[in-house]
Formats: sequence, C-alpha cells, structure tokens
Amino acid sequence: MKPLTLSLPLLSLSLITLSLHLLAPTLAQKCHPDDVAGLLGFKALIKEDPSSMLSSWKPNTDCCKWDGITCSSLSSMNRVTALSLYGQEDDPKSFLSGPISFSLSKLTYLNGIYLVNLRKITGAFPSLLFKLPNINYVYIENCELHGALPENIGQLFGLEALSFCGNKFSGPIPNSISNLTKLTQLKFGRNSLSGEIPAGIQRLKSLRILNLEHNMLRGPIPDLSGLTELLYLELSHNRLIGKIPATISVHAPLVQFLELGHNLLTGSIPSFLGNFQKLDTLDLSSNYLTGPVPQSFKNLTKIFNLDLSENLLVDPFPAMKVKGIESLKLSHNRFHLGKIPDWVTSSPIIYSLGLAGCGIKMQFEEWKPKDTYFYDYIDLSGNEITGNPAALLNRTEFLVGFNVSSNKLSFDLGKVNWPKTLRDLDMSRNMAKGKIPASFAGLSGLNVSYNHLCGLIPATKFPASSFLGNDCLCGKPLPPCRK
Ligand SMILES: *[C@@H]1O[C@H](CO)[C@@H](O)[C@H](O)[C@H]1NC(C)=O
Ligand SMILES: *[C@@H]1O[C@H](CO)[C@@H](O)[C@H](O)[C@H]1NC(C)=O
Ligand SMILES: *[C@@H]1O[C@H](CO)[C@@H](O)[C@H](O)[C@H]1NC(C)=O
Ligand SMILES: *[C@@H]1O[C@H](CO)[C@@H](O)[C@H](O)[C@H]1NC(C)=O
Ligand SMILES: *[C@@H]1O[C@H](CO)[C@@H](O)[C@H](O)[C@H]1NC(C)=O
Repeated sequence: MKPLTLSLPLLSLSLITLSLHLLAPTLAQKCHPDDVAGLLGFKALIKEDPSSMLSSWKPNTDCCKWDGITCSSLSSMNRVTALSLYGQEDDPKSFLSGPISFSLSKLTYLNGIYLVNLRKITGAFPSLLFKLPNINYVYIENCELHGALPENIGQLFGLEALSFCGNKFSGPIPNSISNLTKLTQLKFGRNSLSGEIPAGIQRLKSLRILNLEHNMLRGPIPDLSGLTELLYLELSHNRLIGKIPATISVHAPLVQFLELGHNLLTGSIPSFLGNFQKLDTLDLSSNYLTGPVPQSFKNLTKIFNLDLSENLLVDPFPAMKVKGIESLKLSHNRFHLGKIPDWVTSSPIIYSLGLAGCGIKMQFEEWKPKDTYFYDYIDLSGNEITGNPAALLNRTEFLVGFNVSSNKLSFDLGKVNWPKTLRDLDMSRNMAKGKIPASFAGLSGLNVSYNHLCGLIPATKFPASSFLGNDCLCGKPLPPCRK
C-alpha cells in the first residue's frame, strides 16, 4: 500500500477515511464475540450493582475498554485474559449481588479471575473454572460462595494461585488438591471447612502461602516438610490438636509468618523455633501449650509480632535480644515476670502490649518506655502495679485502648492528661480517686468500677456496672446525688 499512498496521497487518504467510516461499527467491536457474550451473560445475572461497577459494560462497545477487563496485549489476539472486580471495603455500597454466571466459560483465554470484596456474590463453587483451559489465577475473596469444594478440584491443574478467603464453603478440603502442584498460593481462610488437612498437601512443593485460618479443621498439623518454599503458614482459629510437629523445623530458613493460634495444641514450644531467622510474626496464642518458652527465642532478633497469650506457659522467660518488637502479647499464662521486660521498654516501634496477669509487681512510674509514640493498645490488667500512670499517659498521643484493671494504682483521675484518641478504658479494681472527667462520656468502652471515685457521673451511655463499688459516685446510672 505504501507506493500507492506516496503517489496518490489524496485519494488514499480519502479511501482510508471512507473505509474507516464503513468499518467503524465492527472496528469498535474489537473484542471477540464469545468474550462479549460471556461478560454480558455475567452482568445479566448481577441483581444489584449500587456503585455502578459494571456501568461501562455496554453492548456494541469494545469490551477490552470495560472497567475490570484486561485483554491480551498481543495485537494478533484481542482476547479477554483477566476479569478483575474489586469492591471498596470502606464503602457499604460497593458490592455486587447475584451468582457467577456459567457464561464466563466462553472466555476461553481467561488467565486470571479476581472477584474481591464483592460481598454478595453467591452460589456454589464456580464450575465454569473447569471450562477455562488457560486459567492460572483465581481470587474470589470476601464474597458469599457456599457449599462443598468439588472432589475433582485437582483437575484445575494449571492453577498457580487459588484463593477463596472469606466465603462460606463447608465440608472437607478434597484430597485431589494434592494434584495442584503448580500452586504457589492456596488460601481458603475464613470459611467453614471441616475435616482434616489432607496429607497430600505435602505435594504442593511450590507453595509459598498456605492460609487455612478461621475454619473448623480438625486433627493434627500434617507433615508439611515437602513445602520448602513456604513463607506463610497460617492455620490459626481451627480445632487442630497434638503437638507442634518436629517437621515444621525444615521451614526455619524462610518462613516469615507462622500462625497456629486459637487451636487445641498441646505439648511444649519446640526449641527449634528459635532458629527461624526470617520470622516476622509468631502466633501460638490460645492453645494448651505448657512448659517454659525456649531460651533459643533469644535468637529471634528480628521478630515483630509475638503472641503467646492464653496458654499454660511458665517461667523463666528468655531475655530476648530483639531490637524493636512491634506487638507483644504474653497475657494469661503462668508467668511471674516481676517487671516489664527491658527489651519491651527499649523498643522504639512498639504499638501493642498485652501483659495481663503476668506477675508484674512494680510501680508504674518506674516504667519509662524509650518511645511511646506508636502505642495504641496497652493491657497490664491483673498484675500488682502500684503508683500513677499519668506520666505515661501524658506521652501516649495515639493510645486507643488502656486496660489496667485489677492492679493497685492510686492516682487522681482529674489530674491526668488523657490521650484524645482514647476509646476503651478499663481501670476497674484499683484505688484511684477524684471525679470522672466529662471527656469520658465520649469513650466507646469505660469501666471505673471498684475504685475510690466520688462526685456526679457525667451523662454517659455506660451501665451501672461500669461505676459500681466506688466511694461516692452518684447520678445516672447510679442513684441520684444527695443534696
Ligand atoms: C491426581 O491426578 C492423577 C492423574 O490425573 C489421578 O490418577 C489421581 O487420582 C489424582 N489424585 C487425586 C488425589 O485425585
Ligand atoms: C543461637 O544461634 C546460634 C547460631 O546459630 C547458636 O549457636 C546458639 O546455640 C543459638 N542460641 C540458642 C539459645 O539457641
Ligand atoms: C481488661 O482485662 C481484664 C482482665 O484481663 C478483662 O477481664 C477485661 O475484659 C478487660 N477489659 C476490656 C475492656 O477489654
Ligand atoms: C505533660 O507533659 C507536659 C510537657 O512535658 C508537662 O508540662 C505537663 O505537666 C505534663 N502533664 C501531666 C499531667 O503529667
Ligand atoms: C466492670 O468491671 C467489673 C469488675 O472487674 C465487672 O464485674 C463488670 O462486669 C465490668 N463492667 C463492664 C460494663 O464492663
């Protein structure tokens, strides 16, 4: 065509204009008719779309330009390769309701399907996935899919990532899952899955993330030593029993998140966990773990989040060498720490501290944290702490929760510079005096019962049990003040 264009520029220009004009309707319809039909079929079953997520999905327009649609970048092949619809978590109108239409099976080049935070997408396991020969990535999260996972889920052998986090799937994890050997991510967290974790999961050698938290899984933690690439192992909030298996030790070089909390685990904490050099988060909370915390934990110098609360652990607690812990929870074990450990006090980045019932016997003024800037939650309840927290509270600009109930604090409530961010205050069962500041009316949780407070209670929404047992508090919800 080039010579023609050169010799007859005017004619060819007008030819091009003419042909463009003639072709316009078909040119605009760029994407493949199967893709258009499949997507419009999906839209047709959506009953509600209050945030107009699918408003650009209109017949006779290029579906490659629709919101949430990605087409192949290869010019020879203009097929839909990804469907990505994300609801906004903080916007209550950002959802889609209805089932996932089987018509999506027409999108035979689909490589990734991302339906995330759509909240009201319903129906059973989307069997259309079996019809998609090129599907590698499935993330259908925070929707309302329910029913059983199909026995033959292992036939989706091309999958590299499979996430159904935050749905309502129930029944067992099918054994055939062990055939999905290309998976790098398997995430079934926050469903209602039951039965045992299939032993065959061991075969998923490329897994980096295994998230089965918040289900109803029973039985022991299986041997996962074949998963040598594992970075995240998240099995908390299930009904797992037995000991933390020795096979977990193979994960020492790589695992960053080890979350086994809120199960029924017994036995002691294995010493090898101290060798987990990359560990960022260790959650063993709310189990039945016994014995002391291994001295090898001194070697966890880079851990940020450690939660061992609600177990049956005993002294002596290792003197950790961690430089900056962010969140530490040791509450409700059988510790007698005596004081708040120095490695906690010296952390420049700590924001959350739970040392309830840890046998701390000190004066509050003796605790001089290096940095208080990040603190948003402090629970020191059920210890024997005396003195006055005013100096600390004067340094915590962003504190949201403060629980010092059941200690021996004696101070004047009116002489504290309470942080403006405070929302939950429990200082029941102490020896505080003074009046209740008017600002407490704005808190979302308050308990000042069993102290030596006096005077009129400012207008509040809290029940009488928040104020009982003081010297002379009066007014609603307690009896009126005497004249
Ligand atoms: C895995 O796939 C193979 C070959 O397709 C099949 O024979 C086997 O039964 C499958 N395993 C499971 C547990 O489904
Ligand atoms: C900490 O790690 C070093 C080197 O890996 C090892 O020699 C030492 O025994 C470990 N300490 C504890 C208390 O396990
Ligand atoms: C404060 O701690 C006590 C004992 O640990 C607990 O019973 C209480 O519920 C806590 N208060 C709040 C508001 O969480
Ligand atoms: C809070 O800190 C400021 C500045 O350091 C100081 O002037 C003030 O007296 C303190 N207030 C209380 C109640 O401790
Ligand atoms: C306040 O604390 C007391 C004693 O710890 C407890 O009995 C009561 O239920 C608590 N009230 C509220 C509203 O939390």
